[in-house]
Amino acid sequence: MIKVKPSKILESLPPYLFSRINEKKLEAYAKKLDVIDLGMGNPDMPTPQHIVERLCDSVRNHPNTHRYPQAKGMPRFRRAASEWMKQRFGAAFNPATEVLALIGSKEAIAHLCMTYLDPGDVALVCDPAYMVHFNGVALARGKIHAMPLTEENDYLPDFGKIPKRALGRAKIMFLNYPNNPTAAVAPKKFLKEAVNFCRRNNILLVYDNAYSEITFDGYVAPSIFQIPGARSTAVEFHSFSKTFNMAGWRVGWGVGDEKLLKPLEKFKSFLDYGVPTFVQLAAACALESSQDVVRRQCEIYQARRDKMVAGLNKIGWPAAAPKATMYLWVRVPERFASMGSLNFCEALIKKTGVALAPGVGFGSCGEGYVRMALVTHINRFHDALLRFKEVIKKGF
Ligand SMILES: Cc1ncc(COP(=O)(O)O)c(C=O)c1O
Repeated sequence: MIKVKPSKILESLPPYLFSRINEKKLEAYAKKLDVIDLGMGNPDMPTPQHIVERLCDSVRNHPNTHRYPQAKGMPRFRRAASEWMKQRFGAAFNPATEVLALIGSKEAIAHLCMTYLDPGDVALVCDPAYMVHFNGVALARGKIHAMPLTEENDYLPDFGKIPKRALGRAKIMFLNYPNNPTAAVAPKKFLKEAVNFCRRNNILLVYDNAYSEITFDGYVAPSIFQIPGARSTAVEFHSFSKTFNMAGWRVGWGVGDEKLLKPLEKFKSFLDYGVPTFVQLAAACALESSQDVVRRQCEIYQARRDKMVAGLNKIGWPAAAPKATMYLWVRVPERFASMGSLNFCEALIKKTGVALAPGVGFGSCGEGYVRMALVTHINRFHDALLRFKEVIKKGF
């Protein structure tokens, strides 16, 4: 066998957060444990039927959709995304030049890093964060400057704490609210501060809005483009994965000024052929149809949130109810605090079959916390809570 090593940068990256937990999950299945998976943020509900029908009809009856797609997105898709942005946020984007189809926003985040960063350029990344914000920068040979998100500061970064040296070399900042993993939301005052900060310092603000539609208690999440001045400094990514339960379809969109978005389109043109046409048509149908399906889905997540939060507090595991996302971000129970979040999650799945995501997997500032993804039927929560209660009482 020849000896070819993967690149140093690839080798330097730790295995994907969920690999270790997945291993334990497989072991739990092998031992015939009744696994309750609250680990990955993978929506359990099906894609609404009218969207599925649209895909089937396109594939079956329109063979031209089997050909290579238009990489930047077909006009129909871009018009639908532009119209949705206008209806939802009052933000107008020219579908011809200011909207880009994405193979999911994960793809776009990673490729945007390669589009904009030269080796050594700095990206400002929240810690904890959705891991692609970190790994996309690392794979592009950029330098990560972590901005800690703390409970005391409502999980918002403090721009005043970024050292001058890092700021001088910073090209990109990632922000994501409603936030994964902390489930925090950002007040408009903070977003104004972020836009002004990025404009002042010549930084591209990448606003990851994957959870904009998963909100509760009447809270409505904003777009960064509702903030004056954002057009000159920001791009925003949206995803169908959570909004329409289309995580497996791999489709999203980006919006922003042509000058900021065009380089990503160019970069992607060397790598991919875009989103399959039949997926684009179904995704356009999702945006153009009644959004009642999204509201109903939020009601389901809200009921799950309420049940799990009440249950956790009842068994002595303090938890607050977030205004958005399908996640709960809670401290590792007091009794196990010294184990660290990864060991706690590994022991938990081994002992009880309940999978959670360790906070440290989202960055070092996530240590001490776990993320519960409420992506399983509410009738499983009673069992999960009983198992938590037992472990908290008796230990592992
Ligand atoms: C904050 C955030 N951004 C982006 C994504 C990826 O979304 P997509 O499925 O569109 O790639 C996720 C997925 O969990 C996420 O949590």
